[in-house]
Amino acid sequence: MHRLLTGIKPTGDIHLGNYLGCFKQVLELQNQHECMFFIPDLHGLTTVKDGETMRYNTLKLTAALIALGLDYQKHTFYKQSAIPEVCELTWILSCLTPHGLLERAHAFKDAANKNKELNAGLFIYPVLMAADIILYDAEIIPVGKDQKQHIEIARDLAQKFNHTYGETFTLPEGYIKEDVETVIGLDGQKMSKSYNNVIPLFESDAKIKKAIISITTDSKGLEEPKDPSTCHIFKLYSYLASPQEIQELQNKYIEGNFGYGEAKKILLAKFHETFDEARAKYQTLLEKPEEIEQILEHGAKKARQIAKNKLEIIRKKIGVK
Ligand code: ADP
Ligand code: TRP
Repeated sequence: MHRLLTGIKPTGDIHLGNYLGCFKQVLELQNQHECMFFIPDLHGLTTVKDGETMRYNTLKLTAALIALGLDYQKHTFYKQSAIPEVCELTWILSCLTPHGLLERAHAFKDAANKNKELNAGLFIYPVLMAADIILYDAEIIPVGKDQKQHIEIARDLAQKFNHTYGETFTLPEGYIKEDVETVIGLDGQKMSKSYNNVIPLFESDAKIKKAIISITTDSKGLEEPKDPSTCHIFKLYSYLASPQEIQELQNKYIEGNFGYGEAKKILLAKFHETFDEARAKYQTLLEKPEEIEQILEHGAKKARQIAKNKLEIIRKKIGVK
């Protein structure tokens, strides 16, 4: 059985892009594979600078993932910061990482171009991510396209270590689904917390409605036929609907006499049909924060055992033991 591993940062509320680009694949694969799912709170520290926010985001994200169906009893669900071994491996790997490789990383270059705060954590972000993955010899890494380069760096660093110290790590492989590799947001750009263009999964009904109403469209009048292939509403609907439902909506676009307001109503109804069960469960879970805490602690014990055993081997190879 291959080991699958991935994580979503606790930097804000989980949105449709995270779900379709990453988490849905975990739900689909969790019956065939051993899964490790973690909350990369140490990565989150590169941007979240308030303890209370970090704690609350982590609680909400944990409840959200359980509500959406993560089988935390069968698999290993934990918080990154509960595994100190990952930080030790980050240092070890950073001593094998060329400076230029990190300078070329898209995420770092983007932050530099946008004049964001360039802390050293942001610079070595891909090394910590490599440690997250290879410490557990994970093979399948479901992510959106924006993380592709990070997985390649993890693979490079695993190879570099193996080459330097002898065969130690399994090489990871990204699992990126083409049709959802970059889910578009309300304004047609990539859906992302940092662009403020998301459809959050667990916000109030009013906020979901407001988000969907604000999806940008062209200015075609009600009676004019419309092109579904260029419409963001249609695109988002097609991620959630069945082939037959997609065909039906497509016909309405082409026939005309069908406005974007109506299309938004159909998308909103589909959103609720897809997520309302999980949304109700989420509210119940949030009422029991201690239980959520315990689930993560239990997961951390399992993960830590694997991490400790692996680090013993690594320490011997590098000669500190
Ligand atoms: P964000 O970009 O909103 O800050 P994260 O960095 O926490 O989200 O991403 C968590 C996971 O969700 C990653 O695997 C990432 O590739 C995926 N993801 C995020 N946004 C999208 C999107 N718009 N389309 C596809 N996948 C996405
Ligand atoms: N960097 C990832 C993101 O922004 C989150 C992450 C951290 C991750 N470590 C990981 C994803 C290991 C997959 C595997 O989305």
